[in-house]
Amino acid sequence: MRATGVSSSPVRHSSPAMEPSALRSLLLLCLLSDCGRSLAALGSFWHVTDIHWDPTYQVTNNPGRVCESTGTRPAPNAGKFGHYNCDSPWDLINSSVKAMKNILPEPDFILWTGDDTPHVPNEQLGEEAVLSIIGNLTQLLRLAFPKTKVYAALGNHDYHPKSQMPPGQSTMYERMAHLWQTWLEPESRRTFMQGGYYTELLLNKTGYRVLVLNTNLYYDQNKLTENIADPAGQFEWMDNILTTAAKKNEKVYIVGHIPPGFFEKKRNKPWFRSHFNRRYLELVQKHHAVIYGQFFGHHHTDSFRMFYDSKGKPISTVFITPGITPWKTTLPGVENGANNPGIRIFDYDPSTLLVKDMVTYYLNLTYSNMAWERWEKEYRLSEAFLVPDASPSSMHTVLEQLAGTGCDLQKYYEFNSVSYDLFKCDGKCRVDHICAIREVDFERYEQCLVKEGAATTHLALIPFLISIALSVHQAAL
Ligand SMILES: *[C@@H]1O[C@H](CO)[C@@H](O)[C@H](O)[C@H]1NC(C)=O
Ligand SMILES: *[C@@H]1O[C@H](CO)[C@@H](O)[C@H](O)[C@H]1NC(C)=O
Ligand SMILES: *[C@@H]1O[C@H](CO)[C@@H](O)[C@H](O)[C@H]1NC(C)=O
Ligand SMILES: *[C@@H]1O[C@H](CO)[C@@H](O)[C@H](O)[C@H]1NC(C)=O
Ligand SMILES: [Zn+2]
Ligand SMILES: [Zn+2]
Repeated sequence: MRATGVSSSPVRHSSPAMEPSALRSLLLLCLLSDCGRSLAALGSFWHVTDIHWDPTYQVTNNPGRVCESTGTRPAPNAGKFGHYNCDSPWDLINSSVKAMKNILPEPDFILWTGDDTPHVPNEQLGEEAVLSIIGNLTQLLRLAFPKTKVYAALGNHDYHPKSQMPPGQSTMYERMAHLWQTWLEPESRRTFMQGGYYTELLLNKTGYRVLVLNTNLYYDQNKLTENIADPAGQFEWMDNILTTAAKKNEKVYIVGHIPPGFFEKKRNKPWFRSHFNRRYLELVQKHHAVIYGQFFGHHHTDSFRMFYDSKGKPISTVFITPGITPWKTTLPGVENGANNPGIRIFDYDPSTLLVKDMVTYYLNLTYSNMAWERWEKEYRLSEAFLVPDASPSSMHTVLEQLAGTGCDLQKYYEFNSVSYDLFKCDGKCRVDHICAIREVDFERYEQCLVKEGAATTHLALIPFLISIALSVHQAAL
């Protein structure tokens, strides 16, 4: 079998002493490629999410017998690396971790934002099954990256019954804290057992902090937190940590599974209950000066969310990293909601925590099942959208480009499903994506739908007007 291929060059190279001629050709290469970036003192980290291992996956000619996570949908032509109707087989997960090792073997750290178990009814899982799946994936990552710090967050599928995270102590939190004990500081273990969240100095360095949240407490499917103002005291804790961080001049990354705001593939579909969404937004507006990035999963798609201050200045961005599972969502109203497996590297400035760039790598599942496992670079943010970095103001520029008349929206749309759905995004699709990215707030999202809905009618006239102009022009010839 051929080894995992990576068709683009690694992000970082080691640079042993070399001959002057070799150095010259390296410099020439640098002119032609982007290794100027790696010469600057940038750091890099992996973000992986939504693995959703389905241990029942098997390659068989019987489309009804491939995997439990497909539900009643048939899965014809299933291959070694998976099927778009199914959650991840072990071979896909193993391949993803191998790709991580090949592309960037020594990341500064890894963000792993949860959802490890398959989309099957609760009756087919149970506490032991959920813990054993999380345990296997923990072990896989630890063996592949034994010396790398992993910041692991809980997904709504990392519990039994799913999404029912309790707002206080639980044996499942305790057992997960145990599984992750080599990654958690003692104080992190303590708060994790109380509510599934923790904070630590980033890589134990003074002045840098990571906040790993359990936003499953805010999920509207979570019945245990429905009537609680501040489940597990997480908001108050976050407010305190960020207030202290400001006093100590710390810079903070926020990490979690379910993001605030709306799903871009389905109109009017938020995840948080409205009072939780409002509180989260207020906390980001209050503390944005110390927040240098927010990293989430759950969507399985590739998108981002903008936060603005009261004057409309961009102040923060949630980066939504695509999932490893290709599983086509069964959410009613979403058409063809599958994706190719994706993994992502963020480049950042270790002295300021400014997010400089991101590169998404993916496995074309159709191709890899037919030929061989091929992980390729999908895109680099700064190249695809011509922005200097991934700061809030650059991400705002990207959003404005998507909302404009150029071809950036279509490019973004194809990346959104990790190059799975290549159909045209216009009209309603455009409004859904633009408003989900622009407005995390419920009311402002509604207003955006109205406003952009009108804008779309307007934009739709442009090709028509152009065709009239052209025909007039042609007639004149
Ligand atoms: C991953 O696959 C390789 C072969 O491709 C195999 O040697 C290795 O044992 C697998 N690892 C796990 C954890 O399954
Ligand atoms: C998962 O972990 C269990 C217990 O450590 C082990 O017996 C099993 O072989 C693992 N499965 C895989 C696919 O690695
Ligand atoms: C973190 O740094 C402090 C002081 O610099 C040190 O005492 C402690 O052992 C470090 N912790 C880890 C886990 O490295
Ligand atoms: C994925 O691979 C299939 C099969 O080779 C090909 O038809 C398709 O165009 C590829 N998708 C992308 C985005 O390259
Ligand atoms: Zn998920
Ligand atoms: Zn999820």
